[in-house]
Amino acid sequence: MKNITVIGSGTMGNGIAHVFAQNGYAVNLVDISKEALEKGIATITRNLDRMITKEHITESQKSSTLNHIKTTTDLKSGVKNADLVIEAASENIDVKLNIFKELDAVCGTDTILATNTSSISITQIAAVTNRPEKVIGMHFMNPVPIMKLVEIIRGFSTSDETTKTIMDLSLKLEKTPTEVNDYPGFVANRILMPMINEAIETLHHGVAGVSEIDTVMKLGMAHPMGPLQLADFIGLDVCLSILNVMYEGFKNPKYAPSPLLVNMVTAGKLGVKSAEGFYDYSQSKKAETVSNQFSKR
Ligand code: NAI
Repeated sequence: MKNITVIGSGTMGNGIAHVFAQNGYAVNLVDISKEALEKGIATITRNLDRMITKEHITESQKSSTLNHIKTTTDLKSGVKNADLVIEAASENIDVKLNIFKELDAVCGTDTILATNTSSISITQIAAVTNRPEKVIGMHFMNPVPIMKLVEIIRGFSTSDETTKTIMDLSLKLEKTPTEVNDYPGFVANRILMPMINEAIETLHHGVAGVSEIDTVMKLGMAHPMGPLQLADFIGLDVCLSILNVMYEGFKNPKYAPSPLLVNMVTAGKLGVKSAEGFYDYSQSKKAETVSNQFSKR
């Protein structure tokens, strides 16, 4: 494996591109939006600068990492020679199915097609291709350069060979791959999202305010970040779509998204990416609680 293509240059895509490039792989980063590509490279550059400040990497490692990344808005040329494509586009089933149909048509027959989806069925994505045995979930965690886990999800038809290749590759990135099967939410989000949703419902019912809920979970449960702040970092739209996938996939009301979460997403309060979620990110990098008025909305 030498040539990696990453589709989507948002929160996750630029992190995935960064990690592969830093480990010496040639990366093509593809997005439909030129602005997203520019933003992605700016984010990678900023994160590399931070790593230099912390003396984790040198200036020359920074420039070699950046030199390993090429960007394009043209999917066909972006996947030319790709040994592996990792799709990290928006969490929307139609977007992903269209991308995989196109990837299957334009990629070499040996190319492995992976998705970073948080919750959408790998089996369903694989079914729109003619190579379901070469389709796999490669679920990185946010922020990708820092988080060690890669949840490796086997679709119904994913082969042992594909799984082994992707497990070995993850180890080369100094990550810890963990193999799971393909059911809604997989393992990570099946456990995490009900907790986040319950934190939002706790706020919605006025049991406590934003900072109180997060403090209880940080100091009481030794979580590094409270669930509401974590939701802001993941993106409230992403949280909502994951909960909807589990709600529909299991036909179980326990996964029904909190009405407050639905309202916030509808109002465009998506967390860090829109500068406002449960906290306000517009003024300073230090998150300030927006208000404790959510329960009244
Ligand atoms: P994002 O909204 O930050 O970025 C998505 C990017 O995909 C945007 O730049 C958009 O222009 C691009 N895009 C949309 N359609 C495209 C297409 N047809 N071709 C190429 N690019 C396209 O989303 P984010 O948060 O990076 O999520 C990406 C994937 O990663 C989703 O499947 C999400 O569920 C998953 N994920 C997200 C995590 C998070 O913490 N945000 C954590 C783990 C997985």
